[in-house]
Amino acid sequence: MRWPLAISTRRRPLLFVLLIALYTIPRTFSSRLVTLDTVEIFTTHEWFAKPTVAFRCNGANKTYLPDVTEAHTPYTFKGEESWQPLTELPEKKCKRCGLYEEGTFKPDAVFDEWEMCSSDFKGGKYTRFKEGQFNATFLCPNCTASTGHGNPRPSEDLETKKTSIAVIIIASVLASVLVVTALFGGFKYWQKKKRERDQVRFLKLFEEGDDLEDELGLSNEF
Ligand SMILES: *[C@@H]1O[C@H](CO)[C@@H](O)[C@H](O)[C@H]1NC(C)=O
Ligand SMILES: *[C@@H]1O[C@H](CO)[C@@H](O)[C@H](O)[C@H]1NC(C)=O
Repeated sequence: MRWPLAISTRRRPLLFVLLIALYTIPRTFSSRLVTLDTVEIFTTHEWFAKPTVAFRCNGANKTYLPDVTEAHTPYTFKGEESWQPLTELPEKKCKRCGLYEEGTFKPDAVFDEWEMCSSDFKGGKYTRFKEGQFNATFLCPNCTASTGHGNPRPSEDLETKKTSIAVIIIASVLASVLVVTALFGGFKYWQKKKRERDQVRFLKLFEEGDDLEDELGLSNEF
């Protein structure tokens, strides 16, 4: 058959549109990596030694912050340090994390333990402050781009939704146009084939008519 091939050439634009749609659909699966931006501790629980500060989320290994050795000193990080990122957050679930001071002479002391959630990040930034203990800011650029519940940037959400809807509408319209074009092409092809068949039949009838005429000496209605 010839015409299914012709249709598939017509379908190429549809494939192209689908690819573009896939490309524009927001990447909701980008990772929510949390890095430490700044930290300042206001106390040390150790009396004789330099503090060893660590960050840990439930079920994960401790991350030591080797640079943080002095109280009342703000530390700023680039996010590229060997121990970064601190953790990765799931989209709609919080992680229980904490800041600890490892004890040499005493058991580990807790600066604070809290629920770290994607939705707490405002503009990709989250500040955790505990009176007399510490002040830390965390960065997670992808956390606020989520479509999750309690998103602090609903306008961005709305924008991506609008874009998706527009893409879907355009794709549907184009798909309909292509289907109609394909059907019309198919119909035209069928018409042409039918005409050809009719012509063949007509000629055959003519020949048969001639034969009959020859054989019987009669004239037919053609
Ligand atoms: C914790 O650290 C150990 C050894 O360093 C490693 O084998 C393990 O995979 C780590 N666990 C997690 C959850 O990262
Ligand atoms: C905590 O640290 C951040 C960044 O250094 C700073 O902007 C903020 O004011 C601090 N907050 C408190 C309560 O000290």
